[in-house]
Amino acid sequence: MRRAAAFLVLLLCLYWTRAQGESGGVTGNDITQTEVQSDILGVIATSDQTNITPDIWAELKELRDMAIKHSVELSNSKSKMEKLEQENTAIQARLTASENEMVKLKIENADLQSRVTTFEDRSSVLEARMNTSENEVEELKSENTDQPKVAFSLGLTNSGQVGPFNTDITLKFSKVFAHLGQAYSPTTGLFTAPVRGVYYFSFNIMDQRKNVWTGVYLYHNDKRLLLNDDYNDEHANNRISNSLALQLEKGDLVYMVLPAHRSVFDDANDHTTFNGFLLFPL
Ligand SMILES: *[C@@H]1O[C@H](CO)[C@@H](O)[C@H](O)[C@H]1NC(C)=O
Repeated sequence: MRRAAAFLVLLLCLYWTRAQGESGGVTGNDITQTEVQSDILGVIATSDQTNITPDIWAELKELRDMAIKHSVELSNSKSKMEKLEQENTAIQARLTASENEMVKLKIENADLQSRVTTFEDRSSVLEARMNTSENEVEELKSENTDQPKVAFSLGLTNSGQVGPFNTDITLKFSKVFAHLGQAYSPTTGLFTAPVRGVYYFSFNIMDQRKNVWTGVYLYHNDKRLLLNDDYNDEHANNRISNSLALQLEKGDLVYMVLPAHRSVFDDANDHTTFNGFLLFPL
C-alpha cells in the first residue's frame, strides 16, 4: 500500500517537471527533455505495471477481510457485552435480594439479641432468688439439725403413795415414757434447760387420801411459780392438773415440789406425771 502511494507521488512529480520543461521553465537547466523522459521510462521499467495492480487488489482484499473480521469480532463483542450486561443485571438483582435479606436478618438478629438480653436479665434475677432460697433452705436445715431435741414424759412411781413429809420435797419422776435430750434427772428430779428457749410443761397429780389437802408446786430455779392444791372431802381420787409455757435461759431449772404435809399417789395406772418439751430455741 505504501509502495503504491510512493509510486503515485513519484509519477505526479515527474509529470509536473515535464510540464515545467515544455513551458520553458527548465530551459536554462542542464536537464534535457530527453533525460527526463528516459528517467520516467526507467522508473516505469523498474516498477512493472503488471506487478502493481494485483498488489493493490490484494491489499484491498486484505483490508476488506480485516474489516469483515473486525465487524464479526465487533458483533461477537457486542453480543458478549449484552450477555455480560444481562448477567450483570441478574447479579445485581441477586445482590439486592441478598442485601434485603441481610437487612432482614440484621433486624431479626437485633431482636433475638434483645430477647437474649432480656432472658439473661430475667435469668440472673431468678438465679439471685434461687440463691436466696437455697441459702434460706440451708439455714433452716442447719437450724433444724442444730436444734436440740428436748422432750420428756415421766410417771412418778409404781409404789403408791408419796408423802406426807414434814418438809417440802422435790418429786423425782422415775417412770420414763419418753426422754429425749436427757435434760431431766430422775436422781435429782430437776429439769435443766439445755438451750435458751421457750419450753412447755404440764403435770397431773392424784391423791387418794380423804379429808386432807393435796397439792404441788412448780419451781423455776428458786422461784415458786404455782401452788395448785385441793381439799379432798368427798371422793377417794382427787386430781389436779395444769400446764404452762416458760421462757428459760440455758441452765435454768424447772422441777415439781411436794409441799410439806401433802401427799400424791401413783401406780401402774400413771396418775401422777410430769411432761415438758422445748417449743423453740431463742
Ligand atoms: C448464685 O450463687 C452462685 C454460687 O454461689 C454464684 O456463683 C452466683 O454468682 C450467684 N448468682 C447471683 C445472681 O447472685
